Amino acid sequence: MNGIQFIRTKAPKQKPDKGSLQFGNIFSDHMFVMDYSMDKGWHDPRIIPYGPFEAEPSMMVFHYGQAIFEGLKAYRNMQGEIVTFRPMDNIVRLNRSAERLCIPKLDEEFVWEALKMLLEIEKDWVPDGEGTSLYIRPFIIATDPYLGVRPSHTYKFFIILSPVGAYYAEGFEPVKIYVTDKYVRAARGGLGYTKAAANYAASLYAAEEAKKKGYTQVLWLDACHHSYVEEVGTMNIFFKIGEVLVTPSLEGGSILGGITRDSVITLASSMGYKVEERLISIQEVFEAHEQGRLEDVFGTGTAAVISPVGELNWNDRIIKINGGKTGNFSKMMYEKLTGIQYGKEEDTFGWVKKIC
Ligand code: COI
Repeated sequence: MNGIQFIRTKAPKQKPDKGSLQFGNIFSDHMFVMDYSMDKGWHDPRIIPYGPFEAEPSMMVFHYGQAIFEGLKAYRNMQGEIVTFRPMDNIVRLNRSAERLCIPKLDEEFVWEALKMLLEIEKDWVPDGEGTSLYIRPFIIATDPYLGVRPSHTYKFFIILSPVGAYYAEGFEPVKIYVTDKYVRAARGGLGYTKAAANYAASLYAAEEAKKKGYTQVLWLDACHHSYVEEVGTMNIFFKIGEVLVTPSLEGGSILGGITRDSVITLASSMGYKVEERLISIQEVFEAHEQGRLEDVFGTGTAAVISPVGELNWNDRIIKINGGKTGNFSKMMYEKLTGIQYGKEEDTFGWVKKIC
């Protein structure tokens, strides 16, 4: 076919019960792997049984974190087809991250071919329960056995698959968010706009502190003024203030350009809502709440989809959004977006790509 070798597993696993799916703890039977070396470029593409691989303790990724990843999903839609949502956007973003982390770029069309082949092989792993999907995790790691600090000369690219339910234990119930002005996730000029593993490592300490206080995630503020809203742990963030939908702009390069974020902006604009991508301070958010104009707050992400925010805590000033209940706009947007993904709504933007 496309030069991708396929070795079928001899020990297929039992599929999980779709009613008990959580996020990211079960993996399908096969994975895609490809290697990079300076003389051969990206080579030896293969789909093989999912499982451990050999790694030297000196491998560069373990020491200097040269690693990037992506996250997208395959859905079993109402028509019984397996589809993905805006997959090329993820593949293009993977290459954007690769460039920033000095990782050799991939041939985007080839990655799409590889992903389609993997999904066709693993189609029975796409669950059909409400809100379930097959999470797709492409990632690249630096594999040189070397302790000097420089870009690796060798890499491995994997795609692994995980049948999932809701990302948060809360499901579609509102999450409580802790606003931190003590820690920062990314500064201008840093890695913020990439899906570098390092961004997630940088988020852990503050997230653990927030968890101890009873909050699900952290809302990050800008690294310079500790004032402007950036994003939430694993999501972009939106505020509906009166009739206007506001989300932080990507201009400074410290925020991830989410594909769900872009989809919400496009959908809301097409429905006639005014959408503003701009600087928004946490002060403005709290003032809008005081004035009774903060109608809705929600996060967006592939894993989280649309996640309503019920509470914000900023230096122990606590506001409840919609009395802690899911807002109408969040609900409408969740239904619209998942409606397109699961084939209940017309896909007027050509976002859905059928696999089989
Ligand atoms: C996604 O939404 O796909 C993400 O990458 C979040 C992930 C870190 C759980």
